[in-house]
Amino acid sequence: MKKGLVIAIDGPSGAGKSTISKILAKRLNYIYIDTGAMYRAVALSTLEKNISIDDEDRLLQMCLEIDISFSMGNGSSRVLLNGKDVTEAIRSSSVSLLASGVSAKKVVRDALLRVQRKMGEDGGVVIEGRDIGTVVFPDADIKFYLDALSEERGKRRHRELIAKGEKVSLDTVTREIIQRDRNDSSRKYAPLKPAIDSINIDSTDRTIEEVVEKFLEIIRGIKKRWKK
Ligand code: DC
Repeated sequence: MKKGLVIAIDGPSGAGKSTISKILAKRLNYIYIDTGAMYRAVALSTLEKNISIDDEDRLLQMCLEIDISFSMGNGSSRVLLNGKDVTEAIRSSSVSLLASGVSAKKVVRDALLRVQRKMGEDGGVVIEGRDIGTVVFPDADIKFYLDALSEERGKRRHRELIAKGEKVSLDTVTREIIQRDRNDSSRKYAPLKPAIDSINIDSTDRTIEEVVEKFLEIIRGIKKRWKK
């Protein structure tokens, strides 16, 4: 018996996926799964172990050995790499860029795909990423594709980095976001794209609360049918 719906949320960086997914998971009392954090953790691990992302044998070995998990701590979701809290470490600009490269590797995608499916198989999850509705859970109960104009996404990511004390210009952040989108959308395996049956939502001129309300309206409708 499934514990609830599988809600898939895909879209480019800075569209608001994490913010919205966390709020939705809390309101629905669902588990929140951030698959981007898993690719980031793999990227951090390659840095720590000094593994080139082009060395597929070592990359595969590393993927088989590492343990990535989520836990709740201090009221927020924490990311653990082999038991160590890496929540902040995986958000640096260098890890962001490397994560995009790592996520284009089939060995990495195959390894994480298995873990992600296992995490979400019982339902009652909000799972966000780039290929959730297309590859990880093609039969998800609801698929959303959340987008926003790249200028707006750059501004949001810039504000986040400045708040964390990183010294970086808006121009650089926006350029990096556009570059990452291009990498993520043009790669061979599981490229970023809306699933054919996804519900597309644009967050550019909407507040967080407005976007959450839009999602909830749709989720409530589907939940009613699911319970019948
Ligand atoms: O959402 P994010 O910025 O934390 O994701 C980090 C990188 O991982 C990003 O370049 C896209 C990639 N990614 C992916 O390829 N597939 C996913 N399901 C999630 C993220």
